Amino acid sequence: MEEKKRMLSGIQPSGELTLGSYLGAIRNWAERADEFDCYYFMADMHTITVRQTPADLRRRTITQLAAYIACGLDPEKNTLFIQSHVPQHAQLAWVLNCYTMFGELSRMTQFKAKSAQHAENINAGLFTYPALMAADILLYQADMVPVGEDQKQHCELTRDIAERFNGIYGDVFKIPEPYIPKVGARIMSLSTPTNKMSKSDTDPNGCVYLLDKPEVLARKFKRAVTDSEMSVRFDPVNKPGISNLMQIYSCATGRDYAAIEQEFAGQGYGTFKTAVGDAVIEMCRPIREETDRLLADKAYLQSVYTNGADKAASIANKTLRKVYKKVGFVQR
Ligand code: TYM
Repeated sequence: MEEKKRMLSGIQPSGELTLGSYLGAIRNWAERADEFDCYYFMADMHTITVRQTPADLRRRTITQLAAYIACGLDPEKNTLFIQSHVPQHAQLAWVLNCYTMFGELSRMTQFKAKSAQHAENINAGLFTYPALMAADILLYQADMVPVGEDQKQHCELTRDIAERFNGIYGDVFKIPEPYIPKVGARIMSLSTPTNKMSKSDTDPNGCVYLLDKPEVLARKFKRAVTDSEMSVRFDPVNKPGISNLMQIYSCATGRDYAAIEQEFAGQGYGTFKTAVGDAVIEMCRPIREETDRLLADKAYLQSVYTNGADKAASIANKTLRKVYKKVGFVQR
């Protein structure tokens, strides 16, 4: 039997899961579970590049695991684990740091944005973060990395690092492909629709969380910023707010932009915003309810992440041994 291709991705538990992370990433993970051998993790090690409250980080990591399962990632079919439980991530990251250039890291958009946002804490981890992300991916010899648009640059750097390493030592790493969805790859803030929706958004109305209660979701969509025209038309440059809402509605209902324009022709923005809110409420409801149910069973969640880490580590270790040998470390 031909071996299944491998798919891998992670999310930082640095905030609650956003609608952006769901539509840009997680939703596309669950769809492919039968086709691929899948690995999904909580990227807690990435999270400490920005200062965290320890108890919150722990709680969000476990909640994120419950939400992964609630979003349809069956732990029997997908390997779900916590990054810091698999020490090979840090071990390979060190090696890859030595094959990643200062200039490359300096060009990363996320580094530039985060160092502007956290000017008081521009630590070395924030700078070398993409080498850890490359390690996350290359350890598993992943073929596909399903992410939103904003992670494309990191995925491309991962490919460059892998090619550089392979160029010196032979075929050690599989060269991974990013998998970016056609609709949902870049969900924008509801209050500033020219900015990406982000868990670090300071405006509480801009960011929608996957586990928000229905009344909170309804309120956020009702307040979404639109424009002074009165037509529901897809035009991201001139109508970023409406286009973003159309993107979200399209993801939630499966309808394309032409159908949405037709559905709301001649109707006010109020009706449209309510419809988007309702569609998101219905999309999120079963996920929130299932997450709550799973969170009540901590022993089960613990068994999932323990088994996940065991399986992940056995694969990660194979790659790490190979890398150590190639670079000339004496085998123990
Ligand atoms: P993170 O935690 O910022 O985001 C998690 C995933 O959600 C996607 N995403 C979005 N998609 C569409 N619209 C948005 N507004 C939006 N916001 C976030 C992201 O593209 C991402 O897919 N470095 C990564 C985490 C990571 C990782 C990895 C990913 C660590 N190691 C290895 C893949 C493979 C990050 O910070 O994503």
